[in-house]
Amino acid sequence: MNHVPIRTPDDSHLHHQHPGSHDQHRVLDLDAEVFGGNLAAVLDMAGVSAARSVVDLGAGTGAGSRLLRGRYPDASLTCIDNDPEMLEVLHRQGFAVVAADLDDGLPVLAGTLNTSDAAVTAAGAPVDLVWASSSLHHLANPARLLSEVHRALAPGGVLVVAELATLPRFLKNLPGALLEQRCHAAAAAEGWNRHPDWTPVLEVAGFGVTRSEVTTNAPVTPAAREYARQWFARFLHLAALTAEDRGAVENLLEQFSDNIELEPRATRTAWIATVD
Ligand SMILES: C[S@@+](CC[C@H](N)C(=O)[O-])C[C@H]1O[C@@H](n2cnc3c(N)ncnc32)[C@H](O)[C@@H]1O
Repeated sequence: MNHVPIRTPDDSHLHHQHPGSHDQHRVLDLDAEVFGGNLAAVLDMAGVSAARSVVDLGAGTGAGSRLLRGRYPDASLTCIDNDPEMLEVLHRQGFAVVAADLDDGLPVLAGTLNTSDAAVTAAGAPVDLVWASSSLHHLANPARLLSEVHRALAPGGVLVVAELATLPRFLKNLPGALLEQRCHAAAAAEGWNRHPDWTPVLEVAGFGVTRSEVTTNAPVTPAAREYARQWFARFLHLAALTAEDRGAVENLLEQFSDNIELEPRATRTAWIATVD
């Protein structure tokens, strides 16, 4: 474990598909608003009925943190991120934040310790639940972090790793749904949302692992329409998109109105990792 360093974030890898931090924040918030039920279903799978201490790794704008605070109102909750803007957004929501680069491992968490000795902390910090949603795949060195999380978890503790299995889908009818599929293929070709199967990595870190997928259909709300628009606007940045598909996405965005039928769906893969 490392003591809490304040580091300048290198988040270039985060924004390769994101035109700006405002858009990035908005997209994270829209995902929480539209597909919050999908995250909640992932948390349900963890089966953690009570927690004293909870940690959100790569907390972003707080989608998971808000869910965790609602579910475990009496727990001490610590949000870790290395992006000062994200930390500011979290801080404004009243969360305890730690600025740390998770590639340096798990920082020492104030409030979970009765000693400043990191080695003792690694063996004894009573962390019951660690949450990592769409964050691990940003790390260059997840193995180190994961073995430190394993050591920091209390007996019976749980680490939840969640990733989008596919980008969220919105269009209900053909030919739009096929266009959306081709946009997703172009995005995958450019490495958007690229993540490994975390099972072997978690097992090497010492965890027992259950992997499953959960799909949520969201109602068609103004936020869902805005979220759909955001994704299609992003697809215009894809070099791998054909000229014809680029034109079709531009047309779609121009006419994006209430008469385009949506069926918003999100699927997440969840790895529930337990300490024996
Ligand atoms: C895609 S966002 C996910 C945010 C949030 N967990 C959610 O589900 O909405 C990834 C987050 O991980 C953070 N992150 C990326 N690399 C990191 C690192 N090396 N150390 C700490 N945080 C990191 C980013 O700043 C960002 O807030």
